[in-house]
Amino acid sequence: MASGWTERLAEIYGEEAVEVQRARYEEALDAFHDAYGPGPVVICRCPGRVNLIGEHTDYNQGFCLPAPLDRDILLLIRPRADHEVSLANIEAERFPPQRFTLSEAIPPAAPGDWGNYTRGAGQKLWQLFGPLRGFDGLVVGRPPHGVPRGAGVSSSTALTVASAIALVYVNSLDVPADRLAHICSEAEWYVGTRGGILDQFATILGRQGHALFLDCRPEVDEEGYQRFHTELVPLLDGYSLILADSRVHHTHTTGGYNVRVAECRLGAACLASHFPDVRTLRDVQHLPWTELAPHLPEETTLDELTAMGIDVAEWLGDLQISRDTRLKLRARCRHVHSENQRVLDSVAAWRRGDADAVGRLLNASHESLRDDYEVSCSEIEVLRDLLLSVDGVLGARIVGGGWGGCVVALVEAGCEDILFDRVTPGYEKATGHPPDLFACKTSAGAGVAIETEC
Ligand code: GLA
Repeated sequence: MASGWTERLAEIYGEEAVEVQRARYEEALDAFHDAYGPGPVVICRCPGRVNLIGEHTDYNQGFCLPAPLDRDILLLIRPRADHEVSLANIEAERFPPQRFTLSEAIPPAAPGDWGNYTRGAGQKLWQLFGPLRGFDGLVVGRPPHGVPRGAGVSSSTALTVASAIALVYVNSLDVPADRLAHICSEAEWYVGTRGGILDQFATILGRQGHALFLDCRPEVDEEGYQRFHTELVPLLDGYSLILADSRVHHTHTTGGYNVRVAECRLGAACLASHFPDVRTLRDVQHLPWTELAPHLPEETTLDELTAMGIDVAEWLGDLQISRDTRLKLRARCRHVHSENQRVLDSVAAWRRGDADAVGRLLNASHESLRDDYEVSCSEIEVLRDLLLSVDGVLGARIVGGGWGGCVVALVEAGCEDILFDRVTPGYEKATGHPPDLFACKTSAGAGVAIETEC
């Protein structure tokens, strides 16, 4: 084994994780050797992320505060001379091998196919940088070190970003980190969701021991690229972040995310009729809520909005929603407006070491997501109530897009064991299955971890 590994793994995961990660990386290299034979290998990686606060604000050009997890996806690659990508997965039964040709229009596999995230990255980079060479790759993302799937901690983004990093490496592309994050966010539209930039910035620009404050409103630089302001915010000593995975994901609401995006765009459309130059909800963030609320219908439909003179097709762009969807514009916009302020207040609280205030803001964020944005579900409520019943838990909220996934809780260090003992049986009794609880540790942002041979 190369001597630089210890330092490199410590840099990425922290000293205490070096031995465990070394064994994991060695096993991954053996699997790559079995799949593709001996030769050079590059190990790319991308972490999952936990969003501490600032949910459903990113696609409204608002604020958020995510942190990169120590759970990550490894993508081991060997460059090819042609335009082919072949992709194996260490969990071959669940994720069968893939092969496709890179181009500016790569035909997608069936919706939900795991290879579509790599296709999306390949297509987007080809469109921007011209013909690309491919790679032979192996994905290693299984538990316990992989990014939990369907848990609202960005396992799909991790695969998109790791694939983009592999292609950038193979083709020696010169792409600054923030530009790559922006490219990856659009690359993920390939699979159909109209997500914002939160996940890609968190996983690429995040750093160990820190959260990343991200302002999702771009400024265009002299070369015409959109740039986004970020700031690292140190996490507090003496407190832990616990992630509690409900292990449910209500797939019948898959379309719900895009409906929320649509409601926000249409809310901005209503406000644009009364305030000059409004394109997104961010453009009214400086105004008090009481000035905005009267211009936002509580419930409406596309037909009613059209009758009010709003060009809904223009505001929706490529988003498709059915004409009979009830759109709750006032409550959705109230969430976004209040959540942006909570992010700013949280950054100030983390910086001055005020854990109680951080906890209160987590709770307020959850209540707003549950009541105004309506993206919680009964299992998440059970799990969160159990977490909040434990002494030393300062606050807890649902993480990610919603309708299942994880709750994140801020807890005083030392009460984790009691919390695990109390929450696990209580949740199992209520839902029939145990949750997955773990302490969130952070790691380095995505990149090339190690270049070696196998
Ligand atoms: C998903 C999306 C993100 C963000 C969150 C909600 O994770 O991928 O862009 O919108 O939901 O905050």
